[in-house]
Amino acid sequence: MRYETPSPTRWNARAYDSSFGYVSPVGAPLVDLLDPRPGERVLDLGCGTGVMTAEIAARGAHVLGIDGSHAMIEQAIAHHPGLDFTVGDGHDFTVAQSYDAVFSNAALHWMSRDPDAVIDCVREALRPGGRFVAEMGGAGNCAALTSAMLTAWREHGLREPELPWYFPGPAEYALRLEKGGFTVRLLEHFDRPTPLDECPDGAADWVRLFAGRLLDQVPPATVGPLLRRVNELAAPALRRESGWMADYVRLRFAAERH
Ligand SMILES: C[S@@+](CC[C@H](N)C(=O)[O-])C[C@H]1O[C@@H](n2cnc3c(N)ncnc32)[C@H](O)[C@@H]1O
Repeated sequence: MRYETPSPTRWNARAYDSSFGYVSPVGAPLVDLLDPRPGERVLDLGCGTGVMTAEIAARGAHVLGIDGSHAMIEQAIAHHPGLDFTVGDGHDFTVAQSYDAVFSNAALHWMSRDPDAVIDCVREALRPGGRFVAEMGGAGNCAALTSAMLTAWREHGLREPELPWYFPGPAEYALRLEKGGFTVRLLEHFDRPTPLDECPDGAADWVRLFAGRLLDQVPPATVGPLLRRVNELAAPALRRESGWMADYVRLRFAAERH
């Protein structure tokens, strides 16, 4: 079945992998938290182009990468021909055999339609005692970026855009995990200011990649001035002498299925 992620993101897998390759390297310590052991079965949910999937496989685990975007899965297969990847929605996937662990980096906040449905699918994919180890955007993530967006949209007389992300606080997400049949072993909520090294146009470039679909609803002649205004509004908080810095806030957790 061919499936395209319902998220309002229009992923450009090639741009994501080159300009925004930092998403995966900064997620590398998460693989240490997962601690995959040789022979274990691990599912990488929202695997993107498969960089972390390959990292997990390199530790000897059998990994399946799942992503909602065909473009991402095509890139993942092309880059890692020996690994297994499939297209699937985090809200609604099933697996034939149960897994020892589900891993997810920088993806759960995109599965915003129904976070409990995602947690239910993860639980059903795991064996009892299986681990759910993930990092996602947490409450306050990209607050300066998104507030610049909302103000710029409003100033241009546009309807406020519906932002596509789910950035929960630690208490809220811990409760969801516990109600969903998990014991929370570790939960951290922390700032991770992240250089937008390869975004010459700063916040505007970030909007183009991560909220590009919202620009489809903007009259073409307005897009340029709108994004220039986003940059002006975001610059005091996010532009340093060394370049632009995204105000990322992360939620990282390890939970165990009952
Ligand atoms: C920022 S990327 C992270 C990719 C990868 N985990 C990494 O660390 O490089 C987020 C990924 O989540 C995927 N995604 C978004 N919504 C999804 C959904 N509902 N189901 C499955 N994947 C989804 C996107 O297609 C994208 O590849």
